[in-house]
Amino acid sequence: MQLSKFGSKFYRPTGINQLMADLGDAFVKGHPDLCMLGGGNPAFIPEAQELFAREMQKLVSSKDFAQAIGTYDGPHGNQRFREVLADYLNDQYGWGLSANNIALTNGSQNSFFYLFNALAGAMPDGSSKKILFPLAPEYIGYADAGITEQMFSANLPTIQELDDKMFKYRIDFDSLHIGDDVAAICLSRPTNPTGNVVTNSELAKLNELALKHNIPLIVDNAYGQPFPNVIYEDVSPFWNENTILCMSLSKLGLPGARTGIVVANEDIIALFGRISSIVTLAPHSMGAALMTSMIEDREIKNLCENVLKPFYQEKIEFAKACFYKHFADLPVKFHKPEGAFFMWLWVEGMPITSKELYQRLKTRHVLVIPGEDFFIEIDSSWRHRQECLRLNYAQPADKIERGFALIAEEIRRSFGG
Ligand SMILES: Cc1ncc(COP(=O)(O)O)c(C=O)c1O
Repeated sequence: MQLSKFGSKFYRPTGINQLMADLGDAFVKGHPDLCMLGGGNPAFIPEAQELFAREMQKLVSSKDFAQAIGTYDGPHGNQRFREVLADYLNDQYGWGLSANNIALTNGSQNSFFYLFNALAGAMPDGSSKKILFPLAPEYIGYADAGITEQMFSANLPTIQELDDKMFKYRIDFDSLHIGDDVAAICLSRPTNPTGNVVTNSELAKLNELALKHNIPLIVDNAYGQPFPNVIYEDVSPFWNENTILCMSLSKLGLPGARTGIVVANEDIIALFGRISSIVTLAPHSMGAALMTSMIEDREIKNLCENVLKPFYQEKIEFAKACFYKHFADLPVKFHKPEGAFFMWLWVEGMPITSKELYQRLKTRHVLVIPGEDFFIEIDSSWRHRQECLRLNYAQPADKIERGFALIAEEIRRSFGG
């Protein structure tokens, strides 16, 4: 098969492809002992699923159903949803938005593909620009989303050691250099893979830097506020005309709806509409149709505050208890879990790489995500890069307990124990 540069770049194996293939395989083959601690699936939460099922039934028997399945929305997505969401965000945060500040896509992954390639890469004047990640490690799904090569750069974090075998990555502002080749700053908050939540003051500093250099600040809010609000720290969401806030319905429990939401100034939203009509005609309608009345009557707030947040909080407490039980004798720390639903382990001095550990665990039916691919554009000479592992703790308790025990056993073995 003869491929173009685009074809060859997108055909080669990537971390995100491995992750999604593992996820698909796991569900198809469905080994009874499988501990699925990989992937980014949200948990199946019965109250949330009942609520979505009720809303779906309401939609199916309403007059809006024919429109939801029988027409293309405009290229920016469903107009009514955009209006209702603008009103909700204004009500919560006073951002002064209109529907023209909101575009829908087929999931945040889709939003980032449009955004990165529209802002960075080969520029009309012959130069090339990059997206800067101010804090490594970052979301694996960004790594290969550039149409051209070398579209990203990242800054090493400082590591703050904390009590109780925890640590926290911090943005190293002293070494954060924003050159003329930087097209935008981008970070996930909460961060996938670490569960870090960049503080309000760190975010304010990034905003100042972005404004000073006249480049946008992209904030990936997939786990953030106001939905799904899987954040355990007291922080506030942030938006201004220079911020591109990317949200999603996935982590609410609706990854199948493939609905991404972009909140930005009107020029950026216009850009999304133009790209969307070329690439996909119109984004999916069903996620928006399903959620419109839940946002309008504020049921979504109740779902996030009284169902999702307590559920994930209980999960993290359980995961921490399992960690302290199984890893007590090992040189393993975990990132302070401040949001999202991942535990990020750091096995200091591990004699094997995390990719090797991942392979060994796979043979024992434990799926995890090795850390390497999250260190996008970070030099492999930094040993820390091979010492980390991401675990999804949104899974049933028996799988977490067994998975953690087997991971500890394999790490112990790697040290010759
Ligand atoms: C930080 C982050 N951003 C974006 C995405 C993509 O989400 P979506 O399902 O909306 O494409 C994910 C999915 O795991 C994520 O973790």
